[in-house]
Amino acid sequence: MLRLFLTVSVLFWQQLAAQDEVDNFCYENDCIEPVEVIVAKNYEEKKFLHPQGVETVVRGMHMNRAIETGLERLFNYSHFSNAAGTIVPISAPWVVSGSMENGTMEQTFIISVLIVAEVITPPEPTDQTVQLGSRPSEWYYVRAFDQKIDGQQYEKAVTEFRQDLEQDNQHFDPRFIISFYSTHGLIHMGFRKIVNPHG
Ligand SMILES: *[C@@H]1O[C@H](CO)[C@@H](O)[C@H](O)[C@H]1NC(C)=O
Ligand SMILES: *[C@@H]1O[C@H](CO)[C@@H](O)[C@H](O)[C@H]1NC(C)=O
Repeated sequence: MLRLFLTVSVLFWQQLAAQDEVDNFCYENDCIEPVEVIVAKNYEEKKFLHPQGVETVVRGMHMNRAIETGLERLFNYSHFSNAAGTIVPISAPWVVSGSMENGTMEQTFIISVLIVAEVITPPEPTDQTVQLGSRPSEWYYVRAFDQKIDGQQYEKAVTEFRQDLEQDNQHFDPRFIISFYSTHGLIHMGFRKIVNPHG
């Protein structure tokens, strides 16, 4: 029991330190921030407003390659590959969402970025693999990391987070979401909270 307590406690402090890094980054970079936060044992519950974004589905590749491909399409959208032929400003973080089956990631990912709120009506993409998207505001279970992790470490981290949420009887969409704030490993890992699982 003592060991379990220590493990949880170390994770808790790592989570807090990583969250501080994200907060600092967002303070300097003006990224989209949660409107409400609940601090839990070793993760947080955050409510994000999702005003607008642009996304693309990438299939048949490992996650890192899928992110590169997806970001290139989204970058192209923001740089003239849109109906207005203009620059559409986008904002950190960039986000990948996917699912895991039997401890392994499935090779279908949704890659998205946010469009800044100043763009009132984003132009339609000209690339048919790219779509505009907006979601209602939603709650997420979120854990922050500030060390670069890779490949199977993502799978392990997603699995551990999912197990922690299950242990706490939380209701959540099993698709994982990873938001990248920097190329140095500053990320949020999250699951969308199902607020009313029976209704
Ligand atoms: C992005 O645009 C460049 C320049 O037009 C083009 O060469 C490239 O194929 C595009 N990439 C994707 C993924 O659509
Ligand atoms: C996952 O494991 C179960 C049980 O071993 C198996 O029936 C199922 O086909 C597996 N799914 C995939 C996608 O490998």
